[in-house]
Amino acid sequence: MLTNFAICDLLHIDYPIIQGGMAWLGTAELVSAVSNAGGLGVIGSGDAPTEWLREQIRQTRERTDRPFAVNIMMMSPFLADNLKLVVEEKVGILTFGGGNPGGYLTGFKEAGIKTMPVVSSVALARRLEKLGADVVIAEGMESGGHVGETTTMALVPQVAGSVKVPVIAAGGIADGRGLVAALALGAQGVQMGTRFICSEECIAHTRFKEQILQAGDRATIVTGISTGHPVRCLENKLTYKFMALEKAGASKDELEELGRGKLSLGVMQGDIEQGSLMAGQIAGLIKEIKPVKLIIQDIMAEAQQVIDAMGRYKTKG
Ligand SMILES: Cc1cc2nc3c(=O)[nH]c(=O)nc-3n(C[C@H](O)[C@H](O)[C@H](O)COP(=O)(O)O)c2cc1C
Repeated sequence: MLTNFAICDLLHIDYPIIQGGMAWLGTAELVSAVSNAGGLGVIGSGDAPTEWLREQIRQTRERTDRPFAVNIMMMSPFLADNLKLVVEEKVGILTFGGGNPGGYLTGFKEAGIKTMPVVSSVALARRLEKLGADVVIAEGMESGGHVGETTTMALVPQVAGSVKVPVIAAGGIADGRGLVAALALGAQGVQMGTRFICSEECIAHTRFKEQILQAGDRATIVTGISTGHPVRCLENKLTYKFMALEKAGASKDELEELGRGKLSLGVMQGDIEQGSLMAGQIAGLIKEIKPVKLIIQDIMAEAQQVIDAMGRYKTKG
């Protein structure tokens, strides 16, 4: 088994695999399974109320004594209370999505909390490193959910070459080849979302999981570019409607109204046509629902095989 990952020492985990904080889906069930399997589970607070987050933190602690993190969604209407709660609950590690957490990083450092913001550009990675981020998660536009404009392949080496803190690669990674590629690009580990949705422990609706299993390489689409908040989802009736409205020049308010409540409709209630099915381009590679422990072990074993197979390339002269 591959060892010697500095990120594992920093976060006190066994494997350099982080489960991306996912709104609705990053619950105690998935988070504790990932942490118990040696990765880092991340509670996805999304725009859920602070009491929900408190309950998930408590339930996660009942299920695991391994490290886990909370993902703070910067666009949450409960942001201020959620930030207070994670300090009160002494959560050890935070990831941030959906915005710039720059103004909060110093305070968390003083509170002894490690911070790992998600970035989609070199400029933001540099800025957040200066403000005290312990790790940056460079997320490419292949990923499920809110996306930037640069691919993982192009973003990760540029971020890794621009900051001194460890870099985690996210977006389009679901197997051991992806992990080795991320390491080759200068990352110290990976964050995965779509792969973990198709785990036995993830509470996502079975119909959503099946849509991922049936997806091909071109099954996803990015909507919402005109609103300034582009999102990658599996294509369905909702994305067609959204695209048609965007094309017709609908206002930001109209588009936001169409999107309201649609994520839970899709991923929790299983309405695969009218709900939002956030998932990444790597969906096409995922063909099986597996227990989290097996997902992580298979990735680590495959990464080892890939690295061993690289030995066939010889230096000449
Ligand atoms: C259903 C879903 C919900 C997500 N919700 C969030 C979120 O609330 N906050 C966040 O920072 N990232 C969120 N993400 C992004 C993931 O944390 C992760 O970075 C991404 O899925 C990685 O790309 P992949 O899907 O190709 O593995 C979400 C992704 C998905 C698929």
